Amino acid sequence: MTAAPALHLSGCATIDGAPIFGPVSVEVPRGRWTCLLGPSGVGKSTVLRLMAGLGDEVTLEGTVGAGDGAPLGARVALMAQSDLLLPWLDVTGNVTLGARLRGQPPQLDRARAVIEQVGLTGHAAKRPDALSGGQRQRVALARTLMEDRPVVLLDEPFSALDARSRALMQDLAATLLAGRTVLHVTHDAAEAARLGHNVLLMTQGGITSVPPPDGPTPRQFDAPETLEYQGRLMRLLMVAQ
Ligand SMILES: Nc1ncnc2c1ncn2[C@@H]1O[C@H](COP(=O)(O)OP(=O)(O)O)[C@@H](O)[C@H]1O
Ligand SMILES: [Mg+2]
Repeated sequence: MTAAPALHLSGCATIDGAPIFGPVSVEVPRGRWTCLLGPSGVGKSTVLRLMAGLGDEVTLEGTVGAGDGAPLGARVALMAQSDLLLPWLDVTGNVTLGARLRGQPPQLDRARAVIEQVGLTGHAAKRPDALSGGQRQRVALARTLMEDRPVVLLDEPFSALDARSRALMQDLAATLLAGRTVLHVTHDAAEAARLGHNVLLMTQGGITSVPPPDGPTPRQFDAPETLEYQGRLMRLLMVAQ
């Protein structure tokens, strides 16, 4: 993996002249996990899409890019809420999809190692419809790891999971994506309280940083400082316009 850059976005976004967000300023430090927390419809996914170099339909009056000034395109992996697995491919086929799409031979040894990292050894020959929601998201995470990009953008990747699967996925992702520049969109204060080295609260009024407790992540979900911070984020969400 090449060195993980910082990311930034500032300005206002519109689609067909309709305002989507802004003015905002988003700074994502390099090699850290940043949560972008906010209610539905506030523009979080649009921020992420712009960071990913997607969003051709969006007009950004401002700037977006990497801190080192180099193009981001080939350095970004995106993981979304729906796992986007191909139903006719097995786990190994889905994990190696990127190489196939690029016309390269799949790296099967690496795929095996990554599948083991996400705890799916023994499921490698199964198709997505034979897996639970949590297992499918593990496959999506494995595919992200397989691409080995220094920047990882996560758009509510755990929100469809039950509470236990979600906590396990949070732990796994925090461990396996450590050292990369992660921007993680979520509407869940508890999730941001566990995972963020930085937490940016996005409301109609703009984006503000709400510094989390010190110490390593993922934070214990029931530690007093995690719960206190989660409560603080929740109160800020409740008064957000
Ligand atoms: N392609 C689009 N065309 C028109 N409006 C859009 C489009 N994509 C998003 N929007 C609007 O932009 C706003 C922000 O959307 P989004 O970035 O998806 O918010 P969030 O991820 O915070 O829920 C919403 O009001 C949504 O309806
Ligand atoms: Mg969204």
